[in-house]
Amino acid sequence: MAAALRAAHRGLRPFAKSNSYSQVRIQWQWRWQSTVTATAQAKTTKPQIHPEKRKPKTGILMLNMGGPETVGDVHDFLLRLFLDRDLMTLPVQDKLAPFIAKRRTPKIQAQYSRIGGGSPIKKWTAAQGEGMVKLLDEMSPHSAPHKYYIGFRYVHPLTEEAIEEMEKDGIERAVAFTQYPQYSCSTTGSSLNAISRYYNKKGEKPKMKWSTIDRWPTHPLLIQCFADHIQKELVLFPPDKRKDVVILFSAHSLPMSVVNRGDPYPQEVGATVQRVMEKLNYSNPYRLVWQSKVGPMPWLGPQTDETIKGLCQRGKKNILLVPIAFTSDHIETLYELDIEYAQVLANECGVENIRRAESMNGNPLFAKALADLVYSHLQSNEVCSKQLTLSCPLCVNPTCRETKSFFASQEL
Ligand code: FES
Repeated sequence: MAAALRAAHRGLRPFAKSNSYSQVRIQWQWRWQSTVTATAQAKTTKPQIHPEKRKPKTGILMLNMGGPETVGDVHDFLLRLFLDRDLMTLPVQDKLAPFIAKRRTPKIQAQYSRIGGGSPIKKWTAAQGEGMVKLLDEMSPHSAPHKYYIGFRYVHPLTEEAIEEMEKDGIERAVAFTQYPQYSCSTTGSSLNAISRYYNKKGEKPKMKWSTIDRWPTHPLLIQCFADHIQKELVLFPPDKRKDVVILFSAHSLPMSVVNRGDPYPQEVGATVQRVMEKLNYSNPYRLVWQSKVGPMPWLGPQTDETIKGLCQRGKKNILLVPIAFTSDHIETLYELDIEYAQVLANECGVENIRRAESMNGNPLFAKALADLVYSHLQSNEVCSKQLTLSCPLCVNPTCRETKSFFASQEL
């Protein structure tokens, strides 16, 4: 057991170090890019308009659920989450949500304390947004200046606050850009519903023209990023074990009630996995597994923790975890995968080596993927994907229909 523990710990990558390495790398790159731009500007005789001083023309609203930045933010985060009827419906929700949020707060606060006291999602989204708009200003001068906005569902800056800021800035063209590559009505759907609800509540039409990038599960640069991150970890396994490492693609699970009403998420996560494995030339055995189930109701499986146990029982003790539906680190990667599974559970099961592929975080290629998605979307002149126009066959949420008509009414 002790040997297995040592092996498991040896197998863990230095998370903090690699994050700061990525940060340093991206900062260095941007500094280098700024120096090049500054030198080019100094050579020209024409006075230059500083981009930050120019009124933004295109606003890109980066949508995500967000995460508490400090342990003090945990309660309000949970309260908003349990009150969100697009995410879940509870009996007497207005009363039950505050009760559950209060009861769960200490446990979740303790988890955030273990990962440095808060979620890094805002920091990473800002870094990704910065990288994306810098590239976009170069790629698409006619829609420049571009400005990114962060719209979270359950923490500040909330989606509604971001929309207000965009309207105040006088944005002409707004792109609601989900930061979940794979679409689910409980994540991206909830964020898009928040946009249409904002205007419905105000009883006003938007001044800016809206469109949305509602899914991008197989974008080539996203697939490349995943493949790169996997390869980077695979080479760190002992050479004699490398070919047998089981790649476990882990995505946030969904209640079966959501899956059974026709939510497209499981299929889209599967599409990402398939493309990544294709890119890797099917180098290793793999499975798609699901994490973060809560409560007694049935959820989509197999669960990530049960899979790790099952593999170990069958002698498959070299495992690479790949968070396939998250692009930035947050509690599900830093606590659930890295601590609960890769340390505690791996130790209990006698895992030999377990590692976790890095999230996209500050990878410059990922910022390029985001810029490319927005660029192609603006070029396409499409309001949304064809898939968004189709409601879940068993949808009973009237806001979903309102959201679809909101986007359908936009004239680009
Ligand atoms: Fe999927 Fe309403 S729940 S469209």
